[in-house]
Amino acid sequence: MKKIKLAVVPGDGIGTEVVPHALKVLDTIAELHGGLSFEYEHFDYGCDYYLEHGAMMAEDGLERLGQSDSVFLGAVGDISKVPDHISLWGLLLKIRREFELEINVRPAKVFEGIRSPLLNPKDFDLVVVRENSEGEYSSVGGRMYQGENEIAIQNNVFSRRATKQAMEHAFELAKSRRQHVTSATKSNGIFHSMPFWDEVFKETAQKHRGIETASQHIDALAATFVTHPERYDVIVASNLFGDVLTDIGAAIMGSIGIAPSANLNLNGKHPPMFEPVHGSAPDIVGKGIANPIGQLWTAKMLLDHHGEGEMGTLLLDTMERVTADGFLTPDVGGDKKTGEVTEELIRRLREK
Ligand code: NAD
Ligand code: IPM
Ligand code: MN
Repeated sequence: MKKIKLAVVPGDGIGTEVVPHALKVLDTIAELHGGLSFEYEHFDYGCDYYLEHGAMMAEDGLERLGQSDSVFLGAVGDISKVPDHISLWGLLLKIRREFELEINVRPAKVFEGIRSPLLNPKDFDLVVVRENSEGEYSSVGGRMYQGENEIAIQNNVFSRRATKQAMEHAFELAKSRRQHVTSATKSNGIFHSMPFWDEVFKETAQKHRGIETASQHIDALAATFVTHPERYDVIVASNLFGDVLTDIGAAIMGSIGIAPSANLNLNGKHPPMFEPVHGSAPDIVGKGIANPIGQLWTAKMLLDHHGEGEMGTLLLDTMERVTADGFLTPDVGGDKKTGEVTEELIRRLREK
């Protein structure tokens, strides 16, 4: 029996609503598989934990999460309790940094049964590879002076190693897809980092001559993402550009509530972390209407990562049949609850 040990961190807000449903679905997948099981260790890290303990996670938290095969996270953040920069840097970003999760893979595609806000969306299917450890999210900088003279300096950090690594990952991914990589740049306006980014992209492209490439300024890219998403296969982007692009990706699919992500460690020293793209959605928390698809598609990425691609495909295909038959939460135009969508999914998986 193959066992996958998951460190489960529901986190805050709707994270605590969608994660338990996703675990039920994973258990169903394990049952259907027959030779697979999940072992869960639950961690109550998040803003309530902070209020009680003065930290977002236990002192030995990273060590304990690190003993798992994968971290399965919901969402972090609740500004009614803890300021975002404290909660995020104390948990989500801390895990990304300390576990060296330098690549964030975020797919977007036409999802059967979910209406895109685009008028005539062509059949798009793309993946954003987001550099996940540095760039605009560096902690280098500071604040100085006071009053009207006050300034805040936020330095962007682009190392050759991490930049190259994100690009290599994008090219490798393109080999198993439609052989095309687009680089999200801004070398017309950002003086140091983006010309460097372009240089590393060119060098990487030369090593992968079979792959077609394009380079587009992020502003124009964001526009084309909306008007012609079908033009993209794999996009490689810096940390912040990738963050923004993937919310646009979620939006053109129909909702931020359906987009998944995988945070990968490439040196084998730490487990990967799987989490949806969306946040804790304080405006709908407690209503039972959070869309579970982001978390469930994230579970599909986890299955794929652990060599269970067949089950992953079964999960995504069945989800699309559920949505195609109108089991939709309000964010995508339906009136179903989180639990109703998940129960229907489980019922259909069991029909197999
Ligand atoms: P958000 O993604 O939480 O919400 C944006 C909008 O999308 C809201 O209207 C929300 O109701 C809706 N939405 C999000 N997920 C949904 C779902 N599954 N089903 C239906 N509707 C959904 O983004 P925000 O409002 O900018 O952030 C709220 C909090 O979450 C903040 O504290 C923020 O820092 C945090 N956040 C965390 C993560 C993460 O943990 N990965 C990601 C983004 C934001
Ligand atoms: C995401 C989120 C995070 C990010 C925030 C909550 C720090 O928006 O995972 O997309 O910017 O990476
Ligand atoms: Mn984001």
